[in-house]
Amino acid sequence: MKKNNFPFEHITLIMTRDCNLKCEYCSLNHTKINITNEILDIFFRKIIKYNNYNLNITLFWWEPLLNKKWIEHIYVLLKKYMKEFIGNNIFIYLKIPSNGTLLNNDYIKLFNKIKSLNFINLSFNISIDWDKTTQLRQRNYAKKNLDYYEILKENIKMLVLNNFDVELSTVLAFSNDNFFDDIVYLIKKFKLPIFLMPMQLTSGYIVECENINNHIKKYLINIERTLKLIKINKLDRFIINFSSYVDVVTPSIGPTVDVNGDIYTTRSFMFSLDRSEKFFKIWNIKKMDLVNYFIDNDIKKIEFESFKLFYWKTFLINKSIWDFFTNLIYSK
Ligand SMILES: C[S@@+](CC[C@H](N)C(=O)[O-])C[C@H]1O[C@@H](n2cnc3c(N)ncnc32)[C@H](O)[C@@H]1O
Ligand code: SF4
Repeated sequence: MKKNNFPFEHITLIMTRDCNLKCEYCSLNHTKINITNEILDIFFRKIIKYNNYNLNITLFWWEPLLNKKWIEHIYVLLKKYMKEFIGNNIFIYLKIPSNGTLLNNDYIKLFNKIKSLNFINLSFNISIDWDKTTQLRQRNYAKKNLDYYEILKENIKMLVLNNFDVELSTVLAFSNDNFFDDIVYLIKKFKLPIFLMPMQLTSGYIVECENINNHIKKYLINIERTLKLIKINKLDRFIINFSSYVDVVTPSIGPTVDVNGDIYTTRSFMFSLDRSEKFFKIWNIKKMDLVNYFIDNDIKKIEFESFKLFYWKTFLINKSIWDFFTNLIYSK
């Protein structure tokens, strides 16, 4: 039987608003506020009600693997409602984007248990910024005495050895002058698909940066040169963006469920990069009837409303970068 799809691509679940890294380009504010079992319980109780659906659920924002108990509870709920998931013909694509530094054997055991559920496809998107020098510069680690780049490399290998579906994601950072050599390094080192993400600039950065237009011009030239070199050297088969149409940002369009159960559009989260911006709440987990909500209310319209909040600050500049990147890849 053909499965239904939601009128959007992904549901994003936020596990925490905290993180163990402090990357130079990331503007997420770190606070020790985490998801509760109660919110996860309500979420999964609502989700099992959908009949004959493919569900894309991404554990996005901040660091979802900061505490194993959240993922353990998700496993408990998946098992508890296994009969309902299977009976209602629901298949879940569960994606975990993570900085990968906190993975360990206990996580692998837990992920293996999740993977063994036959209504689940589990995959990972591990962010890594090239070699050790670039990584340590761009993604500073709180505990500097630990060689976390080595840990990260080992953790990626551990996921691959355990047959998990892994892709790497990497930011084309504004401060980096040479992405191409770095991309070649990653391809040779890991031989895994790589998702390239152009930068989203915060309004703070845009305002403070002297001569922002010149910087952007230089950045776009750098992107163009990199993408050309990727094609000329036939490395495009390793780059996820080239193989099929993917949005420049992860996760894709859809609702984002915050740690306290408030629901936002993913784009309003995405673009509210400036800490002074307020996120645009559209719904709440207790009322969650996502399919009907988004059928009655066109998600594109809702997302457009949320754009207005930041529009005058960062949208035009970020959109010009994304459009440039997207056109280079997808236009003939
Ligand atoms: C916000 S993080 C959340 C997941 C996890 N903490 C991680 O870093 O993989 C998700 C992705 O966004 C990227 N990212 C962070 N700040 C960004 C920015 N200003 N522009 C583009 N991508 C950014 C990160 O490198 C990472 O690949
Ligand atoms: S690891 Fe992810 S959430 Fe944490 S600071 Fe870096 S980009 Fe932001």
